[in-house]
Amino acid sequence: QKLFAIAIDGPAAAGKSTVAKIVAHRLSYIYIDTGAMYRAITFKALEQAVDVNDEAALVTLLKSTDIELIQHDEGQRVLLDRQDVTEAIRTNDVTNNVSYVAKHPLVREDMVARQQELAEKRGVVMDGRDIGTKVIPDAEVKIFLVASVEERAMRRHTENLKKGFESNLEELKKEIEKRDLIDSKREASPLVKAEDAIEIDTTSLSIEDVAERILAEVNKNV
Ligand code: C5P
Repeated sequence: QKLFAIAIDGPAAAGKSTVAKIVAHRLSYIYIDTGAMYRAITFKALEQAVDVNDEAALVTLLKSTDIELIQHDEGQRVLLDRQDVTEAIRTNDVTNNVSYVAKHPLVREDMVARQQELAEKRGVVMDGRDIGTKVIPDAEVKIFLVASVEERAMRRHTENLKKGFESNLEELKKEIEKRDLIDSKREASPLVKAEDAIEIDTTSLSIEDVAERILAEVNKNV
């Protein structure tokens, strides 16, 4: 059977990773979370006190940085220079800084090259902001997931509370809106729907509904 690349893009907290994981599992494809890669370099920059606005310093840092995404039954693990940072890259500090790191064209160039190498053999579901437009423009299936900001903030909020984390709905809403604004307005491959992507509004759909819609698109291409 022919292996495809499935690109899933969309704004923050639109359910991309949850759905991408399900689709990858059903197809026995590899799931690649490109946001985790930007988060990993952001984590390292913060740890080493590298200024997130200093493009040259970030590029130098990246040159000696190894980021590995390991497939696990219980989900993906993120290794930064062989150290497991899966949880560490989800803190507010990383979340609030990652879009500044991801703005820089030369940072993106490095990341995109890594991501293209991972997608080369197909059989991948990749989620991010520029997968359908820049990383895999010839992906066989392109999906653009959207949902209202209220819905996205509420989902994150519920998720946080379930995990026993402190959570403030209004703050979440502000953080999501701010990140979307920076991601959409940046010069280098901004968050935008690819012309040939299928847009799915997930506001009133269940995760299972969304996964089914994507799998139906995949089957059309078989
Ligand atoms: O997907 P996630 O929300 O974890 O991504 C974190 C941030 O990484 C995004 O807000 C965006 O700034 C950046 N990103 C990006 N391009 C991608 C994936 C993520 O710029 N392909």
